[in-house]
Amino acid sequence: MPDTKNATGSTMSTGAPAPSDRNSLTIGADGPILLHDVHFLEQMAHFNREKVPERQPHAKGSGAFGVLETTEDVSAYTHAALFQKGASTEMLARFSTVAGEAGSPDTWRDVRGFSLKFYTSEGNYDLVGNNTPVFFIRDTMKFPHFIRSQKRLPDCGLRDNHMQWDFWTLNPESAHQVTYLMGDRGLPRTWRNMNGYGSHTYMWINAQGEKFWVKYHFISNQGTAEFTNAEAATMAGADADYHRRDLFEAIARGDHPSWTLFVQAMPYAEAKTYRINPFDLTKTWSHKDYPLIKVGTMTLNRNPDNFFAQIEQAAFSPGNTVPGIGLSPDKMLLGRAFAYNDAQRNRIGTNFHQLPVNQPKVPVNTYMFDGQMAYQHSGNAPVYAPNSGGRSWADETGPAADGWETDGDMVRQAYTLRPDDDDFTQPGILVREVFNDAQRDRLVETVAGSLLGGVRSPVLERAIDYWKSVDADVGRRIEECVRAGAAPAPAQGMGEGSEQHAAPVS
Ligand code: HEM
Repeated sequence: MPDTKNATGSTMSTGAPAPSDRNSLTIGADGPILLHDVHFLEQMAHFNREKVPERQPHAKGSGAFGVLETTEDVSAYTHAALFQKGASTEMLARFSTVAGEAGSPDTWRDVRGFSLKFYTSEGNYDLVGNNTPVFFIRDTMKFPHFIRSQKRLPDCGLRDNHMQWDFWTLNPESAHQVTYLMGDRGLPRTWRNMNGYGSHTYMWINAQGEKFWVKYHFISNQGTAEFTNAEAATMAGADADYHRRDLFEAIARGDHPSWTLFVQAMPYAEAKTYRINPFDLTKTWSHKDYPLIKVGTMTLNRNPDNFFAQIEQAAFSPGNTVPGIGLSPDKMLLGRAFAYNDAQRNRIGTNFHQLPVNQPKVPVNTYMFDGQMAYQHSGNAPVYAPNSGGRSWADETGPAADGWETDGDMVRQAYTLRPDDDDFTQPGILVREVFNDAQRDRLVETVAGSLLGGVRSPVLERAIDYWKSVDADVGRRIEECVRAGAAPAPAQGMGEGSEQHAAPVS
């Protein structure tokens, strides 16, 4: 064996020289291992703990560091430092699939996560979006149910098209996102070739305190490109890490992907009377009503040095905002403001925000103390506020700069419907006016293939009605394919895998 060790050897975690990374301490060459071989014990014990729980959704992904450059003057809409003309902000992006586990193929049909962390001069700002501008549901209460329906059956641990379509058809607000998912966007060729969206409506506040509702659009400067079902299925077998590899290799060879950031901006008061509920995450805003306003360019130019430390331990939350940016009455966004930091306290640890990848680049003066793995501390400064020890504390009083007014009884109820609010109009427009003939053909093929992959009565009939509600012609064509392909399987037992989809569609 070649001698690869160098003169300095390795150390214990204490910094003291490690005795051997090759031989444990034994009594004689053939004797038992000794309990006081601390280096050996530490290696074994740490190894047993070297994985952390994977993210519940969006487990498989990767990312890179980069920079956001604000090239345009959007100060009329926000005073956030990162969006002032000329600002250049270091950032981290992570792209992911939603339903697959940490080792699942990158090219299974799925929505793709588009998470961004901006290390701004006013603290970290996170935007945790997808490659689609809408989502499947509009109340956080449904989220755990939704994710479970896309994951695995309780008995056999297999993924299941029947369960997915059962959830979607019982929640018809999913139709817009399902149309995107079953269309070309469900199979991006690379992460570099997909757009990103903040999806929710957020608030921007300018220096005069005026408020706007905004939606973020990151348009790929590489152009968009997709796989066909057959290409994606082949790639899933040939290289399960295709997207991860593509991004890493592109950046390594200096081919730095970039996206142009635009926003749609709605004056605050117009939200009250707009013809759709502008906070409903299953809807897009018309670009004629609210055209895209250019903001700047995001470029990814640096690979992680260590995947675990910088990507697995990265913690994004849509609740992490900075001055000049706020949330909105979107019930999904408000639920997410809790869910992410809580997931990370469980997944990574109480003090996940102290890890280098999550640390802001500005000084922190938080009154959150101690807990597992506390690293940064405030010495013996007062641990309470108010205090007489000179440690500053926050005291904003009165209307919140990023707040909105609300009244009414406490209820458990869906959003109030507006004149143009229904679940099928926008997906119908997507199918008829945005998709071309070839894209519509692929949509029919994909949906029919998915339904033939084990979807049974009565979900099958409901799914066909769902598509007829999206578009009569597309629904009819899907029905014809399904009828020609196979009769619905009996109501009990597992669905068989579709020949067309090596992996279930999610
Ligand atoms: C309201 C319902 C939602 C809840 C409760 C929820 C919850 C979660 C949780 C707990 C994680 C794992 C976080 C971690 O372990 O670090 C996660 C990941 C993620 N979610 Fe959501 N989510 C919701 C909706 C959405 C929506 C609407 C989007 C996109 C518009 C989205 C995009 C993402 C992305 C991109 C990730 C991966 C984050 C990363 O790269 O680390 N989620 N979600």
